[in-house]
Amino acid sequence: CGIIGFVGKEPAAPILLEGLERMEYRGYDSAGVAVRSETAGLQIRKTKGRLKVLSDLIHGGADLEGELGIGHTRWATHGEPNDINAHPHVSENGRIAIVHNGIIENYLELKEHLMRQGVRFTSDTDTEVVAQLLEFHYNECRNMLEAVGRCLRRIEGSYALGIICADYPNALIAARKDSPLIIGYGQNGNFIASDVTAIIKHTRDVVYMDDGEIAVLTADSVDVFDDEMLPVEKTHSVIDWDVSAAEKGGYAHFMAKEIMEQPEAVRKTISPRIRDGRVVLDDLHLTADYVRGLSRIFIIACGSSYHVGVVSKYSWEKLLRRPVEVMLASEFRYCDPLVDEKTLVIVISQSGETLDTMAAMREARRRGGRTLAIVNVVGSSIAREADDVLYTWAGPEIAVATTKAYTTQLVLMDLVGLYLADLLGTVEKPAYEAILSEMQLLPEKMQGFLAHTEDIQYFASRYFNHDSIFFIGRNLDYAMGLEGSLKLKEISYIHSEAYASGELKHGTISLIEPGTLVVALGTYAPLFDKAMSNVVEVKARGAEVLALTTEPFRERMEKTADATISVPETHPMLQPSLSVVPLQLFAYYVALQRGCDIDKPRNLAKSVTVE
Ligand code: G6P
Repeated sequence: CGIIGFVGKEPAAPILLEGLERMEYRGYDSAGVAVRSETAGLQIRKTKGRLKVLSDLIHGGADLEGELGIGHTRWATHGEPNDINAHPHVSENGRIAIVHNGIIENYLELKEHLMRQGVRFTSDTDTEVVAQLLEFHYNECRNMLEAVGRCLRRIEGSYALGIICADYPNALIAARKDSPLIIGYGQNGNFIASDVTAIIKHTRDVVYMDDGEIAVLTADSVDVFDDEMLPVEKTHSVIDWDVSAAEKGGYAHFMAKEIMEQPEAVRKTISPRIRDGRVVLDDLHLTADYVRGLSRIFIIACGSSYHVGVVSKYSWEKLLRRPVEVMLASEFRYCDPLVDEKTLVIVISQSGETLDTMAAMREARRRGGRTLAIVNVVGSSIAREADDVLYTWAGPEIAVATTKAYTTQLVLMDLVGLYLADLLGTVEKPAYEAILSEMQLLPEKMQGFLAHTEDIQYFASRYFNHDSIFFIGRNLDYAMGLEGSLKLKEISYIHSEAYASGELKHGTISLIEPGTLVVALGTYAPLFDKAMSNVVEVKARGAEVLALTTEPFRERMEKTADATISVPETHPMLQPSLSVVPLQLFAYYVALQRGCDIDKPRNLAKSVTVE
């Protein structure tokens, strides 16, 4: 979901529409705006479907007059995606309009209470309760800020809220708890947004709201209050992203652009952290004593970030000789995890806002664990709450299917692993040096590979009609296969599964029949021979094998596989960061052939701030 709000000295509607467009990538199924003017009052327009529908409805914003407004793109949680459930939601007499990200957990209880008082509801959403409750308290006290305070004390759950009231023609009110919201200070007015991309065209001067805070914005002032309505002094941050980073720049899709940006993103992430042949992590505050005293390391994350964790479990255990457990954040939260002061919990998140990951991190801290977050979005909630944070410098990632965030997470985890191994003394000097020097060559090798991808395009056109695909691999190839398979299924809608090759014969092989496409991963050099025998095994059952290997092994692989893609070789530990690139491209070209909405796959959101 995306929120934008504006109050200033120019028409609000076009600004709102444009901001919403820039947040389209986050995923949504309906959209709407509310604009307030002296003559027209509070005007609400909302509709199911793409933003284009909303924009056409209001003629690009020209239909709505007023210099104060809020806008929203909704990804349905409570209530189906339709015109009524779309935001903004309005109180019964049309005086207050709100947009909301998050979930109001006690909405049913509040709704019943309000209905008993005679309030009539129109939608199925949890959000409408907030609009109605606000009106209810406003009628009691006739002071909007006071009403917001009273309302927030009664609601449970998470929210980022943008509020406008017909009686306050010049004020935009914002509130936040467990869902991101920023304030932007512009030349011609002030903004609120759930995502910096929405307002970066207008300003780079922002303030991150903290949980429990309420803000009142006018055209030329911003006041922030804590949950007891005491004024808060906020620190300003400057967004240093380039505006072009959030534009396609000639590519057909953000995903294609972001795949091509990987060499640069990897370079930016590693080069400031390697000095004189050593890993330097200035932002990390872990002492050698603390690291030596660790009894266990957890890696927690969701989606592709979790897949990075699976890769790192293999490489870290090898490097550190310490138990490393990787867990899905949604599982970690409720499994009574064994975390104490001797536990380091690594949290990986591109957005830094994924609710399950955030909650898992809080749970880990509550149990005494120390947390280190690997995050891409600077100033995001996870980055701010973790004990330590290391940023991936991938720049804004717009396509829902992650690519450059995944590879930068991988290399950063490799760097952290090396750093910890060095502190522990579990890595020999030559191995340490070999890995580091290979790491510095990664951007170049990636670049070289990306210059010639015609074969992948060709294989995609050959295989895009398959309706079920299996990825098989061992060790790091298996871990990377999880991501290759996810990429493919999320954007092309082809059923796809990743298996550890050795596990095939314990069940999955019964699904292999003549013509079934198997993507066999054989890029992890230490186990190449084993990978080959698995290719033979599935070929014997009639599978069509598309193999991925490294250049030195290409010839051997070609003898057995039906089609072979090869990538440059690097140190085995680093191989997934290179080998995943053709898998991303394969997914991309297959989805292209199938005519899918690549940057915005159905039902998915870029950042999931609900449980
Ligand atoms: C969503 C996205 C995935 C992503 C996951 C975790 O489901 O669609 O691409 O991997 O969230 O996101 P995070 O921002 O925490 O890395």
